[in-house]
Amino acid sequence: MTNIIILGPPGSGKGTQSKILVEKQNFFQISTGDLLRKTVESGTEEGNKIQKIMESGELVSDEMVIEMILVEMSTNNSKKFIFDGFPRNIAQAKALDSAFEDKSMILDFVLLLDVKLDFLENRIKSRIAESDPSNIRKDDNVETLSKRLNVYKKITYPIIDFYEKKNKLVRINGMDSIEDVTNKIIQIIN
Ligand code: AP5
Repeated sequence: MTNIIILGPPGSGKGTQSKILVEKQNFFQISTGDLLRKTVESGTEEGNKIQKIMESGELVSDEMVIEMILVEMSTNNSKKFIFDGFPRNIAQAKALDSAFEDKSMILDFVLLLDVKLDFLENRIKSRIAESDPSNIRKDDNVETLSKRLNVYKKITYPIIDFYEKKNKLVRINGMDSIEDVTNKIIQIIN
């Protein structure tokens, strides 16, 4: 069965494509962003700390997100996982490798959604327009987007090379329409 990582800068379409693959291809989506937002909604002290970090555009600690991933993998029996927004640095990528090894699972593809960085502001603006006004993400603004992009370039870029060396990386033109990107992904994974 197929396990994939969907990788790309903020607004590149990771969440959009993951949700389509859940519907069309029966994947189980593990999105660290969604899991963290749920913890924020809980209003606990931990949630408040996470909220501050997310609003700053920085990354939440590896320890916390790795623990979340391990729990999700252990409590869901899916044979088809799609990792959305994880890993985001080399330490997380190595932790995922170990989890796969422990569970005798295989990572099949790392799909990189290539989108020109200067298009991302418009993507985020369209997500704001699509959102319920009472539910706009606090990190969806031009200032935080620029911080999230810097974090992506400095901290997440190296994992592209990490997976390229393992022959797992497939680049997908994320500038194509949502439908074309989905079709391309389905063609690759099947
Ligand atoms: P996270 O929630 O993962 O956010 P992100 O990576 O910044 O990505 P986004 O959710 O903004 O974008 P997306 O690529 O999913 O795009 P979408 O499909 O919505 O993380 C948020 C924060 O949580 C981080 O900053 C960090 O603080 C923390 N965090 C999360 N994971 C972590 C980790 N592993 N370690 C540590 N901290 C972590 O699309 C955007 C818009 O574009 C939508 O309007 C959509 O309709 C549109 N669109 C999509 N595709 C297309 C297309 N092909 N053509 C035209 N429009 C399109």
